[in-house]
Amino acid sequence: MDIATSQKPHERLAEALAGEMDAVNALIRERMASEHAPRIPEVTAHLVDAGGKRLRPMLTLASAVMCGYPGPYHVHLAATVEFIHTATLLHDDVVDESKQRRGRPTANLLWDNQSSVLVGDYLFARSFQLMTETGSLRVLSILSNAAATIAEGEVLQLTAATNLATDEEIYLKVVRGKTAALFSAATEVGGVIAGADEAQVQALFDYGDALGIAFQIADDLLDYQGDTAATGKNVGDDFRERKLTLPVIKAVAQATPGERAFWERTIEKGQQSDGDLDEALRLMGKYGTLEATRDDANAWAAKARDAILTLPDHPIRDMLHDLADYVVDRLN
Ligand code: IPE
Ligand code: IPE
Ligand code: MG
Ligand code: MG
Repeated sequence: MDIATSQKPHERLAEALAGEMDAVNALIRERMASEHAPRIPEVTAHLVDAGGKRLRPMLTLASAVMCGYPGPYHVHLAATVEFIHTATLLHDDVVDESKQRRGRPTANLLWDNQSSVLVGDYLFARSFQLMTETGSLRVLSILSNAAATIAEGEVLQLTAATNLATDEEIYLKVVRGKTAALFSAATEVGGVIAGADEAQVQALFDYGDALGIAFQIADDLLDYQGDTAATGKNVGDDFRERKLTLPVIKAVAQATPGERAFWERTIEKGQQSDGDLDEALRLMGKYGTLEATRDDANAWAAKARDAILTLPDHPIRDMLHDLADYVVDRLN
């Protein structure tokens, strides 16, 4: 197998965009610092040094380059998007009381909730500074809308997640908000900064939206099927956090009265004991909901692939095409 085909799609993208990505990482390092509060660089370095896939900034760079952008500001936008992402992760791990992120203990565990919330706020503010430097009001509008939509999705999830009445439609609304909004903004601003025509900008938005949904559905599947070494997160967290995600929603929809009582106790009332996670997995197995969830993720990945078919032929377009399959297949 030659190197090009053995590489994963996001690795190929990273290679094709290596120069720009270096500039993005340099800008992130420069702007994550603070002269006045030493806690800020401590926390940000902890998270930034752990890496992360840098998927979202790559999507911005890829979209701009594919649309022929010659200027420097896609780098600012990519860094903006990663700052927003990092801020939401800091906040999300407090809300979810998570202990692992990017294979490391979370900031809320190593420091405290106060530090995570406030450093998250700082990163949000830094992201706004960065995006104003592009001078594009339209880009500001897209990214500030995305920031609001992410917060909305997270808040909707607060009330929806432990309610057994939450159906697939509400789940989709949560996922579109908390995750896909940043993916679609990331691709859209890449097209906008490049001055792409409206049909292309729409295609990029649609790609990001569908990719983000596929990504989060796959992430929710990994929560039950993944292994910690590969994901850097704990298995079964969503169940312990009483979070109704797609595999559970599908099992609840088909539950017998006895099974429904199990879900009411463990998810709605949060009364869990040893063996409950195994029982939850058994019920998901009984109805094949993990497979059905994976089918849904694949269907969204297919939508993402279709969306960019209308864009001009470009090697990066092919990588984005393959990336849609990869976000689902990173399970294997
Ligand atoms: C984690 O996103 C948050 C979700 C939307 C599930 P990523 O899996 O892209 O996180 P990093 O940046 O690679 O750590
Ligand atoms: C991540 O949500 C979405 C945001 C960070 C806004 P999750 O809570 O589902 O993701 P993980 O599992 O913590 O990465
Ligand atoms: Mg979380
Ligand atoms: Mg969460």
